[in-house]
Amino acid sequence: MSTSAELVSAGISIRDRFIALNQIHALRQCAQAREARGDFAPARVGGGAGVQRREDIRGDFTCWLREPFYPAEQRLLEQLEQLRLELNREAYLGLFELESHYARYPPGAGYARHVDQIRQNAARKVSMVLYLNVDWAPDDGGALRLYESDARTLDVEPLGGRLVCFLTPGREHEVLAARRERLSISGWFRGRE
Ligand code: OGA
Ligand code: MN
Repeated sequence: MSTSAELVSAGISIRDRFIALNQIHALRQCAQAREARGDFAPARVGGGAGVQRREDIRGDFTCWLREPFYPAEQRLLEQLEQLRLELNREAYLGLFELESHYARYPPGAGYARHVDQIRQNAARKVSMVLYLNVDWAPDDGGALRLYESDARTLDVEPLGGRLVCFLTPGREHEVLAARRERLSISGWFRGRE
């Protein structure tokens, strides 16, 4: 099934090999270059005056994908633009832009159960995560746990090239701790509120 058909029927879509291994390596190098420039920052939680670093809630480091883009990033953004158009064409989602960042989780770091749509981000309609991990093994951990209800969960391994999309509103999920560093690009397609 296509990503849009899965989103409409199940609210979640998992697509493997969205990008090839050489593109994974190229994007890992882009992340490294941005890291070397000091552009990754500890992710914080809370909003406004209450914003704080809480490694017990969220232990990742993030870097927004912003200009100037490296060629591999430009290529990825073009692929994600095609995805945006497909979602609008086939699922009538009215998405008009994408915001995205790299996320690097050191070993042992996770992100506690949450939803991506918070007060100031009601425009987030579709969440996406693209994994950039090479040779990930099942006992490396680091699954994305999607809650279908309190009793039912779906664990998704962060395999390189795998693209996970889900309808943002109300979809609770968490990132389980991994034994290895875990690298991804997370993004949100935005619609009008
Ligand atoms: C996020 C998030 C999931 C993942 O960045 O908000 O939930 O698997 N990421 O990295
Ligand atoms: Mn999230």
